[in-house]
Amino acid sequence: MSRTHRTSDTGTKPRVALVTGAGRGIGAATVAALAARDWSVLAVDLACDDPDLPYPMATKAELDAVVARAGAPERVRPFVADVRDPAALAEAVSEAERYWGGLDAAVACAGVIAGGVPLWEVPPAQERAVLDIDLGGVLNLARAALPALLRRPEPRQGRFLAVASAAATRGLPMLAAYCAAKAGVTGLIRALGVELGGTGVTANAVSPGSTATPILTESARLYDLPDREAFAAQQPMGRLLDPTEVAEVLAFLAGPGSSGMTGAVVPVDAGLAL
Ligand SMILES: NC(=O)c1ccc[n+]([C@@H]2O[C@H](COP(=O)([O-])OP(=O)(O)OC[C@H]3O[C@@H](n4cnc5c(N)ncnc54)[C@H](O)[C@@H]3O)[C@@H](O)[C@H]2O)c1
Repeated sequence: MSRTHRTSDTGTKPRVALVTGAGRGIGAATVAALAARDWSVLAVDLACDDPDLPYPMATKAELDAVVARAGAPERVRPFVADVRDPAALAEAVSEAERYWGGLDAAVACAGVIAGGVPLWEVPPAQERAVLDIDLGGVLNLARAALPALLRRPEPRQGRFLAVASAAATRGLPMLAAYCAAKAGVTGLIRALGVELGGTGVTANAVSPGSTATPILTESARLYDLPDREAFAAQQPMGRLLDPTEVAEVLAFLAGPGSSGMTGAVVPVDAGLAL
């Protein structure tokens, strides 16, 4: 890679991204990876616990810390929104356009997990949260962000990106709703890739394997495992991924180097899907 840190992906005006699930984990690492490439970033997160889910979400303090670590207050800003709320996401897109004059990338990282029992025993509110956040939240972001990406003048390099999962293609017992939502995300990305056609806006996804973040800690609890490290042995590389390793691929997909890709679902999974 010839590009160095703090060099804009366009070489000129900083590009503008909106990242959901930015308070911690893969979303936070994506904010950092984009900021290091001189993007302006609106870092969006729920930033409070979800009463329907038995594990903590990122806090507002964590979201603020992600923004502070990015180091340029005028270029990285926090925004509290629930991806289940289309109006809140529309407002987030408007904020990004107001601050920085437009939008070039929308990255759907927000996600939750629930299960640990057969599907028919999962509390309906938990199943609803998984479907509404992990799939509905990506649809909501597409609805809010794609018109903004298409408002950029031609020739444009818009990027709609989502985080799917190895769960999109594997049958994971006791995580059926999560698998369904993630398979939905990959179907959405393929359809958007075709729908966006020659507009200059592309749609791509990454499919991470087990990555060292709080959602994996919750997965370990759901499977009665001692800790999340227990998932490492399932991956041919014999270790968990670091969230920065997923974020680096998302940053590549956001940049000009991915111009020939659309509708792709890229595994970043330490070989889990092999
Ligand atoms: N960690 C893994 O092993 C793994 C593997 C495959 C896919 N993924 C996916 O990666 C994405 C990021 O997860 P992570 O690993 O960083 O987990 P994480 O729990 O660390 O981060 C998820 C973030 O989403 C936020 N969030 C939750 N509900 C929200 C809502 N309704 N609106 C806005 N924000 C909300 C949380 O506050 C948190 O900051 C998720 O889509 C997840 O499904 C993770």
